[in-house]
Formats: sequence, structure tokens, C-alpha cells
Amino acid sequence: MKKTSFLITPILLGSLLSALLFIFFSFDDKGPSFELSDPEMAPEPLKKEVMHGYKLMLNTWRMLPDHVGDKLTCSNCHFNGGDTKGGRNNGIPLTGVAAVYPTYNKRADQVIDLPTRINSCFERSMNGKKLDPESCSMRALVTYLQWISRGYPIYQPIPWRGLEPIKTESKPDPVKGAQVFKTYCADCHGKEGHGQNNDTLQVPALWGNGSFNDGAGMHHVDTLAAFIHANMPYNIPELSEEEALNVAAYIHDQPRPHFKD
Ligand code: HEC
Ligand code: HEC
Repeated sequence: MKKTSFLITPILLGSLLSALLFIFFSFDDKGPSFELSDPEMAPEPLKKEVMHGYKLMLNTWRMLPDHVGDKLTCSNCHFNGGDTKGGRNNGIPLTGVAAVYPTYNKRADQVIDLPTRINSCFERSMNGKKLDPESCSMRALVTYLQWISRGYPIYQPIPWRGLEPIKTESKPDPVKGAQVFKTYCADCHGKEGHGQNNDTLQVPALWGNGSFNDGAGMHHVDTLAAFIHANMPYNIPELSEEEALNVAAYIHDQPRPHFKD
């Protein structure tokens, strides 16, 4: 009896230690080790759905005119269809999200599934209409998001999720923001903030009928400022936190479509 416990204890301790080491090395401070998945690499017969979903993310208003009221694509905010790990120049990441839905949603005050969350961006960010959860477009979008979440552990918090909040305590100043807009944004987004859609340049609108409505996440100054600070001007995000906050306040004050609940 004594002899066996003498043997079993070190074996138990040993396996406990290796389990701890495994967890420590596979979950560093950046979260579980995770490689991005290229939609082109999806295996047949999944690939057709994945590629369809990816194309919908990149060409939303052109491919789904009945469901998009503005002139935006999902990838205008979720760069490259969300197939990124966020941070600078990567937009709002969507890798891993399929592994953390259904989830509690504060705005809805209930647990919602992924198609419901996607539809919230259709109704608000796209100023459009819900997709039928059973439609082939919704199936393609969900399959695409599943693919780019491939390998992510279910319900493990995603360290790169969302946008990194702005830390400055300074008060947003839209008057100063107008100057930031002129200097850093108007060349691409247009003096009137209506964007440009021609053969050489595709730049989304920031306000007016081509833009997200006042129920969208981007219609919060903090969210908009965090997005701008990490991503704009496009490819060279060089604004201070104060400048990002001020230009966000300026954009927030401009007219945009109204969200009808
Ligand atoms: C070099 C051109 C360029 C400049 C300069 C630029 N942007 Fe953008 N912006 C883009 C492009 C292109 C996208 C969409 C990216 C994509 O689809 O991958 C975008 C997307 C956005 C979006 C998200 C989509 C939308 O329309 O709501 C916001 C917000 C935004 N820019 C704000 C700004 C602000 C504020 C500035 C100035 C500080 C700025 N941008 C400067 C090209 C530019
Ligand atoms: C105008 C910008 C914008 C556009 C366009 C947009 N979204 Fe979003 N999306 C957001 C914001 C902001 C959030 C919330 C991010 C956060 O919580 O920090 C979000 C969140 C999401 C989430 C949930 C992510 C999570 O971590 O839970 C999904 C899924 C999503 N969007 C899908 C889409 C799809 C699909 C489209 C196109 C039909 C789209 N979005 C278009 C801004 C946008």
C-alpha cells in the first residue's frame, strides 16, 4: 500500500507539471497559438462556400444590394474580410469569433448566435436589412467565419478581439477635428466625406447616405476614435490619440442615415 502511493505520487505530480507546462507554452500572453487561415486553402467541397463568403465580405454592397442601404463592404471596417489579428492597419479582426458564439450580447441583453450578430452589422453598419438565417449568403458568411476561426479553442477569450481603446482623458473637440479631417482624410474620403468609388480608387464614405447609420458601433466616438487611431490615414496611422478623438467627434457630428428599430 505504502509502496504504491510512493510510486503514484511522483507520477501524478509529473503529469500535472507537464500539463501546466503545456498550457503555459501553448497559451502565451498573445493567447492560444493560432495561424491565420487563407480562404483559398479551404478543402473541397467547403472551399466554394468559404470563397463565396469571403467575396461577400469584400463586395457587400455590390453583391447584396437588397440588404445593403449604404455603399460599404464588410471589409471597409473588417479589413481583408476580418482575416487578421487586429492591431495597427488590420481593421476590426474577426478571426476566432466563430469559436466564441453563441455569446451574451449587451446591446440585445441576451445570448445571440453568429447569424444574429452578422445581421446586426447588416442593419446598422450597412444601413440595410437582415439576411434570412437560412439563406445561402448567410450560410456562406458563417462558413467563411468558421474557416478563419479554424483551430481556435471554443470559448477561449480572444486577446485581439475588438479595438484597442483610446486611453487619453482629453475632451473630444470637433472644431479641432475639422482641421485634422482636412489635413489627413479629405484627400481620400473627399471634402464632403462621401468617399470615392471609381475605377482607380475605392474609398468608403464617412457620413451621408453612403455611410453607416446612427445605430452602428462606429457611431460611438470612442469606437470610431479607436478604429481611426489604429488604422487611419490608411496604411500610415500616425495620429495622436487626441487627434483621433477630435476627428472622430467631427465625423460624429455630420449627418448620416437614421436607424429605424
Ligand atoms: C490613402 C487614402 C486614405 C486616407 C488618407 C484616409 N483613409 Fe480612411 N479609409 C481608406 C480606405 C481605402 C478604407 C477602406 C479600407 C478597406 O476597405 O480595406 C478606409 C476606411 C475608413 C473607415 C471605415 C469605413 C468607413 O467608411 O466608415 C473610417 C472610419 C476611416 N477610413 C476614417 C478615416 C479618417 C478619420 C482619416 C483621416 C485621419 C482617413 N480615414 C484617412 C482610405 C483612406
Ligand atoms: C462601419 C464599420 C463596419 C462595417 C461596414 C461592418 N462592421 Fe461588423 N463590426 C463593426 C464594429 C464597430 C463591431 C464591434 C467591434 C467591437 O466590439 O469592438 C463589429 C462587430 C462584428 C462582429 C462581431 C465580432 C465579435 O468580436 O463579436 C461580426 C461577426 C461582424 N461585425 C460581422 C460583420 C459583417 C459580416 C459585415 C458585413 C455585412 C460587417 N460586420 C460590417 C463595424 C463594422
